[in-house]
Amino acid sequence: MRRICKVRLDKGAFHANCGDLLLDSALLNGIELPHDCRSGICGACRLRLVEGKVFGGTQEGSDMIYACQARVVSDLRLVTESVPDTVSLPARMAELTKLAPDVIGVKIELPRPLNYLPGQYCKLQFRGFPERCYSPSYPLEGAPERGVLQFHLRRFPNGAVSAALGEDIRAGHRVRVMGPFGSAHFRPNHAGRIVLVASGTGFAPMWSVAAAAITEEPRRELIFVVAARKLRSFYMHAALCRLALFPNVTIIPVVAEPHHVTAAIRVGRPLDYLPMLSPDDMVYASGAPTMTNEIARLAKEAGAACYTDPFVPNVMPTEAGLIGRLFGGRDGSRKLLEVA
Ligand code: FES
Repeated sequence: MRRICKVRLDKGAFHANCGDLLLDSALLNGIELPHDCRSGICGACRLRLVEGKVFGGTQEGSDMIYACQARVVSDLRLVTESVPDTVSLPARMAELTKLAPDVIGVKIELPRPLNYLPGQYCKLQFRGFPERCYSPSYPLEGAPERGVLQFHLRRFPNGAVSAALGEDIRAGHRVRVMGPFGSAHFRPNHAGRIVLVASGTGFAPMWSVAAAAITEEPRRELIFVVAARKLRSFYMHAALCRLALFPNVTIIPVVAEPHHVTAAIRVGRPLDYLPMLSPDDMVYASGAPTMTNEIARLAKEAGAACYTDPFVPNVMPTEAGLIGRLFGGRDGSRKLLEVA
């Protein structure tokens, strides 16, 4: 007969068969644990092991475990990270700004401030349009305004939402803001180096993380690899100039398109310029899934903590459901973005 183990989480307790996968067992028992890749890469399912033992899913020298990889082999006590509650707020579009030919800055005014962690994302539903996931960002210039969220939206010519920006969606348009969601948020009190990697509008959440990290510890070493497809899509220079004023910050701007404008902006892929990682690093990455998955893999190899926010193109509802099932997300925990 299989041994039964008691698993206690701050979200509730349940019984699991010895040998069960912790994540599956929690979900089967109605405990909603965040998860995404189910392969020990993205870090979404990490929990702190306070008591007991698991088989697999551990990291040497750390009490953090991956619920998607860990098998229950004894009674357990675990702690999840606390994140703000998800809310749904009526809001209005306050302002649209062209940041680059294919990137629009959007300001949304809320009836009250939304409590979120830097790096988390929201679902926006403009009235009359389908919902989409976008990350609130720290302002590129100036200070945050109370009750205002800023987003960077990539414009797709046939996008169901982004193509309507400035046309059917203008200042004053009603929008519902749901959130926050996501686990690639800033973790304070990290003594080592912070490495951030962003491609395209993946800059929005990573800039929030950078601002939080530098506010917490202005002298901490921070490396920020920022990539855009084209030079003219490199809309984040004002923000990077602000960040460059801090003594231990290294910024590595990269564009995919070959150019001879300045040697300061490298040519290639963000992965070409990722520094050698070590167990003391904390890595955050946001953008194309191929990039975030590879960074997560390299971070794991190096023993570094890593949190990723992969942008997955939005597709037809049936396909979206399939993606959700393939990746284990119940409510779009994998961030689905506009494409068409
Ligand atoms: S690491 Fe467990 S779900 Fe991604």
